[in-house]
Amino acid sequence: MNLDKVVCNCMNVTSGQIKEAVENGAGTLEEVQQATGASTVCGACLDDVERLVNYFVAQRGKAGQ
Ligand code: FES
Repeated sequence: MNLDKVVCNCMNVTSGQIKEAVENGAGTLEEVQQATGASTVCGACLDDVERLVNYFVAQRGKAGQ
């Protein structure tokens, strides 16, 4: 995965920033939105952001076992 890829153009948020937010404790789409600002403007990126949140939360779960 390219962590430098911008997923939210409105807020200029990258995949890496979503990952970082999840690693710092965000576990839901809403929490990532609050932490990064991603998907809080036009909403066009919502599906992508949600997919990434789910992905990184699943990764975090595995790493913690
Ligand atoms: S592209 Fe993310 S809110 Fe517009």
